[in-house]
Amino acid sequence: MDCSRVRLTGSLPALSDREYENISRLAHDHFGLDLGDSKRGLVAARLGKIMRQLSLESFQHYYEYVKADRSGAALAAMVDRLTTNHTSFFREPKHFEYLRKCIFPTLRTLSRIHIWSAACSSGEEPYSIAMSLLEESFQEAAAKVRIMATDISTRVLEKAKRGVYEADRIDGIPIALLQRYLVPERANGANSFRFRDDIRSMIGFEHLNLMAKLPEGYRCSVIFCRNIMIYFDRSTQQSLVKRLSLHLEDGGYFFIGHSESLNNITHDLDYISPATYRKPEYARRAQNGRG
Ligand SMILES: C[S@@+](CC[C@H](N)C(=O)[O-])C[C@H]1O[C@@H](n2cnc3c(N)ncnc32)[C@H](O)[C@@H]1O
Repeated sequence: MDCSRVRLTGSLPALSDREYENISRLAHDHFGLDLGDSKRGLVAARLGKIMRQLSLESFQHYYEYVKADRSGAALAAMVDRLTTNHTSFFREPKHFEYLRKCIFPTLRTLSRIHIWSAACSSGEEPYSIAMSLLEESFQEAAAKVRIMATDISTRVLEKAKRGVYEADRIDGIPIALLQRYLVPERANGANSFRFRDDIRSMIGFEHLNLMAKLPEGYRCSVIFCRNIMIYFDRSTQQSLVKRLSLHLEDGGYFFIGHSESLNNITHDLDYISPATYRKPEYARRAQNGRG
């Protein structure tokens, strides 16, 4: 038997330098992703799965297929495979403590409170923000708070909009909050919990690529931009922070993930504590020539 002629079913097609460069460029130009040299194995494995489903034989064919698809669906499926949607309720809990103890009290006098969860994944982050607001005895919170929750992945956004989480996904929610804000239900044969309508009505989920045009005229008091910057190169990070901070009110807060940093980029935000920044008040920015 001539083993060299056997085509191993399930084996990955080879990813040439040129194919890797082409795919990396697509990911960078459309989504700001910095795949670098180290993600080759990951790209081959994750996109290889899509290729098999599409019965495409090489990465070159896949690249051409994505480029030719004017609907954007192929690009969206590609970025979905290349990034991780990992998240959890009250992830990095210090941010939620800070939100409750230091930020919410200063927002009480506002007639509308706008908060942006800028890479919300399947919704755990914005639901955690909403529960924190309600917990801080913000009686009127549901009526005057609007949380804009955006992500590039339509798949995770669908889940976020449903607001239904399997029992093993709700570990981070303290039992008292679970009882107050969620109701048990059976979904797809599994024990699940659904957020109550008053919590869900505080959040608007929208599809948004942070590399594209951001919502014109939108201003908010707090931006969560956590665990997404790691995907971007320095110049993309810098331009993203600059563009997002234009949407922050003066004195507004900017959160990044605790494993991320703004140290190597130029920005106008003041450091407050790990992964927490603040846009200076207008008077001080003007004084420092930054206004
Ligand atoms: C690791 S999750 C972070 C979720 C949440 N912020 C947290 O910290 O738990 C990163 C999210 O960023 C999204 N993402 C990646 N590139 C994006 C882009 N260019 N625009 C908007 N969202 C993007 C991914 O779809 C993913 O859901």
